[in-house]
Amino acid sequence: MLVREQQQQIPRRRFVNQSIQLNLFFLRIVKEHLIFVKASLTPKDINYGRQADMLRREVERLLMETVRLSQGVIRPNQLNSGEFVTKYTLDAEKATQFYTGIEIDTNITQMELNLAGNDLPITEDIPPDNIPDDAPFLQNFDEQASAQNIFTLNRRIIPVIREVIAFKQTLIRRVNSCQMFTLAYPHMVEHLLEETEFYLTMLRRLQRMMDIDIDRETVEQESFWNEIMGDHAKFIRGMLDPTEEALINMANEFAERYEQLTEEAENFKKIMNNMDNVTQQSLRTTREFRNFKTQGVEGILGCKVKSIILPLLADHVLREANHYLRILRRLNRPNRY
Ligand SMILES: [Fe+2]
Ligand SMILES: [Fe+2]
Repeated sequence: MLVREQQQQIPRRRFVNQSIQLNLFFLRIVKEHLIFVKASLTPKDINYGRQADMLRREVERLLMETVRLSQGVIRPNQLNSGEFVTKYTLDAEKATQFYTGIEIDTNITQMELNLAGNDLPITEDIPPDNIPDDAPFLQNFDEQASAQNIFTLNRRIIPVIREVIAFKQTLIRRVNSCQMFTLAYPHMVEHLLEETEFYLTMLRRLQRMMDIDIDRETVEQESFWNEIMGDHAKFIRGMLDPTEEALINMANEFAERYEQLTEEAENFKKIMNNMDNVTQQSLRTTREFRNFKTQGVEGILGCKVKSIILPLLADHVLREANHYLRILRRLNRPNRY
C-alpha cells in the first residue's frame, strides 16, 4: 500500500495533519467561491447558478467529512489560527444568505466552531508559534489507519476540485470573450481559479507523499500569496463605495506594497538568494493587512462601511490572510522542522 511504501518520504502524522489543514482551509474557500460566483450571475445565467450549487454540495460533503476526520486529530489551538472559521463566519454566512437568498448550510460552520472547543477562534490574537505538523494526534488513533482514511479522502477530493476548475475556466472564457456578463470583476473569477489550482497542486504533492523542500516552498508560497493579497487589496479598493475615501486610500497603499513585495520575491527567485528579508516584510505587511481586513469585516457586518462586498467575502479574504500568516510563521521559524 502506498502509505506504507513511502513512509520514509513523509511521516504519516505530518501527512495527516497537513492534509487535514489544507482541506479544512481550501474546501471552505472553494465552497464560498461558488457562492460568490452564483451571486454575481445575471438572471439570464440561472443554469450556471444551478451548476455552481451542484458543485458546492459536493464540496460541502467533502468538507463535512474532513471535519469528521479531524476530530481527535487536530488540536483546538490549530483551529485558532483563524483560517478555517473566524468569530465572524457564522454571522457573515447569515447576512450573506439574507442579502442574496442563497441558502448557506451553517451546520458545517457550527461543527467547526465546536471542534475548536469553547474558545472561539480569535483572529486578533494568533499565538506566535503554531503546533508542528509532526505533533502526536490529540487522541491515540491508529496512525496507519488515519493516514489511509485521509489518503482515500484526498483521492476523492481531487476529481471534484478538477470539476470546479473546469467550471471556473468556462466562466472565464465566456466572460473574456464577451459572451457573458458577471457582476464580479473578470479578474476576480481568474483569482478564484488561481486559488483552486494552487490547492490542487498542493494536494497532489501531498498525495505523492513528497516531503517539501523548504526553500522552494518559501519562494512558491510567498510569490503566490503576495500576489493574492495584492489582488485582494485591489478588489477591496474597487468594491468600496466611492465615498469611502480613507479606506480606498488604505487599500491602495496595500496594493502598492504587495506589488513591491512580489517584485522583490521575483528577483530573489532569479538569483536564488535566501528569502528571509522578503519573508519578514511579507509577515509585517500581511499582519497589517489582516488587521485592515478585520476592520473591514466588522464594518461591513455592522453596517458601518458602504461597499458592494458581501459579508462572507469580507470574512473569506480575512481567512486567506490568516492562512498565509500561518504559512509565513512556519517558513520564518529558525529551525523549521
Ligand atoms: Fe478565495
Ligand atoms: Fe482570494
